[in-house]
Amino acid sequence: MDREQLLRELSEFLRIPSVSTLTAHNEDCRHAAEWVAAELRRLGCHDVQFLGSDTHPVVWGQGPEVPGAPTLLLYGHYDVQPPDPLAEWTTPPFEPTVRDGRVYARGSADDKGQVFCLLKAIDGAKPPVNFRFLIEGEEEFGSKVLFDLLRREPERVNADAVLVADMSYVAPGWPAIYTTLRGLCYAEITVRTAKSDLHSGEYGGAAPNAHEELCRLLGRLKGEDGKVNIPGFYAPVKRPSKAELAAWKKLPFNEKDFLTKRVQGKKLLGLKKYSVLERLWALPTFEIHGILGGFTGEGAKTVIPAEATAKVSMRLVPNQTLKAVERQLAAAVKRLAPSYVTASVRFLHGADPAQIEVDAAPFKLLGQAFKQVTGRSTVPARAGGSIPVVPALASAGAPVILTGIGLPDDRLHAPNEKLDLKQLWEGIDVFRRFYELLGAASE
Ligand code: BES
Ligand code: MN
Ligand code: MN
Repeated sequence: MDREQLLRELSEFLRIPSVSTLTAHNEDCRHAAEWVAAELRRLGCHDVQFLGSDTHPVVWGQGPEVPGAPTLLLYGHYDVQPPDPLAEWTTPPFEPTVRDGRVYARGSADDKGQVFCLLKAIDGAKPPVNFRFLIEGEEEFGSKVLFDLLRREPERVNADAVLVADMSYVAPGWPAIYTTLRGLCYAEITVRTAKSDLHSGEYGGAAPNAHEELCRLLGRLKGEDGKVNIPGFYAPVKRPSKAELAAWKKLPFNEKDFLTKRVQGKKLLGLKKYSVLERLWALPTFEIHGILGGFTGEGAKTVIPAEATAKVSMRLVPNQTLKAVERQLAAAVKRLAPSYVTASVRFLHGADPAQIEVDAAPFKLLGQAFKQVTGRSTVPARAGGSIPVVPALASAGAPVILTGIGLPDDRLHAPNEKLDLKQLWEGIDVFRRFYELLGAASE
């Protein structure tokens, strides 16, 4: 199919504002699921179903069927993160625009553009592979629908291999296969200091202030040195082997470039004893995403807020578990909040970390596919992000291949998310080649 036509079709998918965490977009999520389902039917799937939810269904597909051929399960997600702050987008997030060989839109790299590659690689090629599809619509909100589905029907993940395309190259020209994903524990910490808000003149100087207490509490949870002060938090964390750390030194990653070109800040922070890659890939984190409460509207209001809430999350690394970290955070908040404050923790969603052995044959075949199409095979790397359902995808024992065709500067979750068209076209070719190699390997 010609590229103009492909780009038109991708743009149609990208125009759907399928933001899973905002209920106002429920219909859009459904609409994106329908886009995926129509595509699967067109590819010759004889069984396409919406599972688990009316608004954020998992799109299941099966076929085309090739007797005796290996079964490959393709995973991706059609939901996206909220696009705000809108004012910072050069062109609107749901009006895909091509500039300088890149398509700018929310979801272009994460993950609609990559789902598009997985599907278009099948189109017209008829590789000797039995395809299964699990394309979910709640990845950005913890994947509850898919988790529940796989608990009820674990056989959905039965396959000879699972391909997850939701990540990036480690650098331009350097495709990767990932050996770990960090997990996540997302929570709201709420602090209450009085029955209701108070006039800051009448009460200021003597009454407690919820925002002040919340800030202090957050400051205690993570110190200025970057260390997370949650008892037990680091205990299960293992350092990467010497060989792995040495291999990372050979990757085209430069701490200075990371600061000036990617972060575009003035200083990198975190645990100084460890390299930046170790901080990003092999250590757990604590981040504040937003603080709610008090007066933030136009103008000025003199009030002492009685309640304040912080949205926070912790990234978890192999051997940490979501369950244990939830308990540790709840206990730490209780311990660190002063007695005159009511502090509570509500957990929104989370995921265990994932660790994958990458020796099985399908990993090598993907490496070959990348080599044949891009000139370079894959390097093993770790990922800082999370894909909650990966441990469940791995539970039936099939090798789960974590890869992607994005680039590190795609600005996932941020304004001006983009996907380079070179990556898009290469991505389609790489996956098509991989399907052929996988099919040929078992003939
Ligand atoms: N595609 C990302 C995960 C990712 C990003 C992996 C970068 C590796 C490198 C995925 O869509 C994502 O953003 N996941 C969320 C999951 C969370 C909301 C449970 C994340 O990591 O924040
Ligand atoms: Mn994603
Ligand atoms: Mn994402």
